[in-house]
Amino acid sequence: MKIGSNPTRRSVLKGATALGASLFVPAAWTQARAQETKAFQLTPKPATVSLLGPEWPDTDVWAYNGRVTGPELRLQQGQRLRVDVKNGLNQPTTVHWHGLRLPNAMDGVPELTQAPIDPGDSFSYEFDALDAGTFWYHPHVNSSEQVGRGLYGALIVEDKEPPHVDRELTWVIDDWRLTRDAAIADNFGNGMDISHGGRQGNTLTVNGGQMDEVAVRSGERIRLRLINVANARIFRLNFNGHDPQVIAIDGQPVTPHAPTDGRIILVPGMRADVIIDFGGDPGETFNIVDAVSSAQSYVFATIRYSAEPPLRTSPLDASIRLAPNDVATPDLLTAERHQVVIEGGAMGGMRSAIYKGETLSISELAQQQMKVWALNGVAAHTTKMEPMLTLKQGRSHIITIRNDTGWPHPMHMHGYAFQILSRNNKAVPHTPLADTVLLDRNDVTEIALVADNLGDWMFHCHILDHVVGGMSAVIRVA
Ligand code: C2O
Ligand code: CU
Repeated sequence: MKIGSNPTRRSVLKGATALGASLFVPAAWTQARAQETKAFQLTPKPATVSLLGPEWPDTDVWAYNGRVTGPELRLQQGQRLRVDVKNGLNQPTTVHWHGLRLPNAMDGVPELTQAPIDPGDSFSYEFDALDAGTFWYHPHVNSSEQVGRGLYGALIVEDKEPPHVDRELTWVIDDWRLTRDAAIADNFGNGMDISHGGRQGNTLTVNGGQMDEVAVRSGERIRLRLINVANARIFRLNFNGHDPQVIAIDGQPVTPHAPTDGRIILVPGMRADVIIDFGGDPGETFNIVDAVSSAQSYVFATIRYSAEPPLRTSPLDASIRLAPNDVATPDLLTAERHQVVIEGGAMGGMRSAIYKGETLSISELAQQQMKVWALNGVAAHTTKMEPMLTLKQGRSHIITIRNDTGWPHPMHMHGYAFQILSRNNKAVPHTPLADTVLLDRNDVTEIALVADNLGDWMFHCHILDHVVGGMSAVIRVA
C-alpha cells in the first residue's frame, strides 16, 4: 500500500447514568432502556506491534488492550453498553464514542463533559445503544497524537434485522507517518501540518496490519464496514469490476445506491457500509484503487477470487435495505437558521481572530502555538469554550457552514446525526444523515437537525491537527 513519496522501504512501503432529571430525553431512549448490558474493558497503554509484517521492525504504539486496532466492541441495538476504561498511558485521556447519540456526560470530551482520566485512573462509560450502525471510539485528549499513535477501535451496533449476507468484514483504515525504521514520526502538531492539510502519512494499515490481498469466493455477498480513522487522509475507493452498493453512511441507513463516480469517499472520522456481490470468476483478481484524483491513484488492495466453484450462480435477491434509526426529521419550514464560517490556515484570507477573548492578528495567532484556524471568528484554546451557537431544545435548526479557507475540512458534530441538505445550493442526493460533512474549499453546505439531545457538544474539524490549530467550537442545546 504505497501512498507517500517518502523514500522509505516497504511502502512506505510497498505499495445516564449521568442523565439528570431535568434533561430532555428523546422518547426512544427511555423505550430502548436496556434488556441487557454488554460490558467491556479498555486499557489504553503503550505497546509494540507489527504494522508492516515480519520483514520490518516492530512499531512502538499506544493502543487499547495492546492491539492496533483496539477490540471491536459489538452489541445489539437497544442493548446497554458499559465500558470500563483504565488509563495506562503517561498522560490523561478519555474515550469518545464517535457518531453515537448518547447522553452528554458519556461523550468523552475532557473538561466539557468529564474530567480527563489521569494516568492510572479509571472511568466507566455506560449508555444505551440507540442507533444500529458502524461507529468507532477514540480518545479526545491530545487527539492528534493519541489517535495518531494507534488509539482507536470499531464499535458495531448490530441491526435488529440485518440484511442477509455471507460474510461481514470491518476495515478500520489508518494512515501512519512512519520513519525508515517503521517508528512513528514524532513530529505531532507541527506548524506545517496544522496550517496546511494536517498530518498526512506514508503508510496504510487496515485493522492494524498490511492488507495486500482480500480473499473472496465467487458469488458471495459481503457487507463491508469501512471506517476512516486517519488523522487527515481522505480515501476515494474504487472497487474496479464490482458494483458496491452503499447502504449506510456514518452508521445511518441510506437508500442503497452506487457511489457517485464509482468512488466511495471516506473523510476522516467517516464510515460507509457497503454491500458487494462478488461476481468475478474463480481465480480472477481485481484492484481496489484509491482514486485520489484523475492524475493520482494507487492500488489500495487486490481482490483475489479463490479457485472454489461459485457459491451461487446469480446474486442473492434478498433486500439490502436497512431499517432506519429513530432519528427525528427536522421541520425545514419552521427551522431556526444559524451560520458557521470557517476561516484561516495557510493561504487563507483571515487577518485576525479572537483568541482567549482578545483579537489577535494572524501572525500573533501563529505565535500562540499556531492557533491559525477560526470558527465564527474564534480560535479555540480549549475544549470548554463559550458556545458558538445555542440551539433551542426541541426545535428544528438549519446550520449553514461556509468554508472560506484554501483547504478541505471534514466537519464533525458530536451527539447528533444531522441531515446534509445541500452543498453549494444543490440538494445532496439521498440527503444522508451523517455526523461528519466534508467541505471542500469555498464550499457552502446546509445541515439540519432536531435539537433533541441536551448539552454542550463539540463541533470540530476531524483533521486532528486542525483541532490543535484552534478549529473547534461548542454547540449548546438548551
Ligand atoms: Cu471523532 Cu470529536 O471526534
Ligand atoms: Cu480542517
